[in-house]
Amino acid sequence: MNWLPRPAEGCAWVAPSVLSADFSRLAEDLQSMTAAGADFLHLDVMDGHFVPNITFGPFICTALRKLSTLPLDAHLMISRPDNYLEPFAKSGIDGLTIHVEADADIPSTLARIGELGMKRGISLKPGTPLETILPYLDQVDLILVMSVEPGFGGQVFNPVALEKIAELDRLRGTEGREYLINVDGGINGETGPQCREAGADILVSGSWLFGAPDRAERVRILNR
Ligand code: DX5
Ligand code: ZN
Repeated sequence: MNWLPRPAEGCAWVAPSVLSADFSRLAEDLQSMTAAGADFLHLDVMDGHFVPNITFGPFICTALRKLSTLPLDAHLMISRPDNYLEPFAKSGIDGLTIHVEADADIPSTLARIGELGMKRGISLKPGTPLETILPYLDQVDLILVMSVEPGFGGQVFNPVALEKIAELDRLRGTEGREYLINVDGGINGETGPQCREAGADILVSGSWLFGAPDRAERVRILNR
C-alpha cells in the first residue's frame, strides 16, 4: 500500500487524471507527470451505464501499476462496484472510490474495500446533497467531491463543490476525523487554489495538467 497523509497546511496533493493522458504513449506520459511532481494518479473507471462513457477496468489498472510507483486511486463510475472489488484489489491499486449513487450496499462495500487492503473512498455528484454521505464519514479514508457531472474530462467547474469541501473540512475539525478531501472536475489554476483554500487535500486535474506546455509549473500552482 502506497498512500499519503494529509498535506501540510496551505498545500494540496496533485492527482493527474489518466483519462486525459495519451494512451498510445502512456508510459512516457505518466513518467512526465511523475517528473513534474505529481503525488497520486487518478484512474477514471466508467462502465457506460452509471455514466454515458466507457473507459477501462482492472486489466488496465494492472498495466498502470507496472508503469508507476505513485499511489493509484481508482474512481469507480460504475453501477455495481461490489461485483468488481477483488479484481481491482488484485490489480495492485491503492485506493478505491465508489459513488454513493451506485446500486450497492454502501457500508458493506466500503468494509470489503478495506478488508481487501485498499483505502476506502466515497464520491458524490454535484447534484447529490452532502447529507447522503454523512452516515459513512467514519468508514472512509477519502471523500471525492465531484465538481462536474461524472463521465467526461474537460468540463467547467461547478462551485457547489466549494461549499461541500468547506463543510467536510469543518466536520473533520469538530469531530476528529482524518479522511482526505479530494475534488475532481474542472480543476485549473483558478479553481484549484479555491478548492485548496476551502479545505481540499487532493486536487484531481485532467485536461488542464495533461494539456500544459509546462506540466511542472502547473503541478506547482496546484500544490501551493
Ligand atoms: C470525470 C472524471 C474526471 C475527469 C477530470 O468523470 O471523473 O476525473 O477526468 O478531468 P478535467 O480535469 O479535464 O475536468
Ligand atoms: Zn475522476
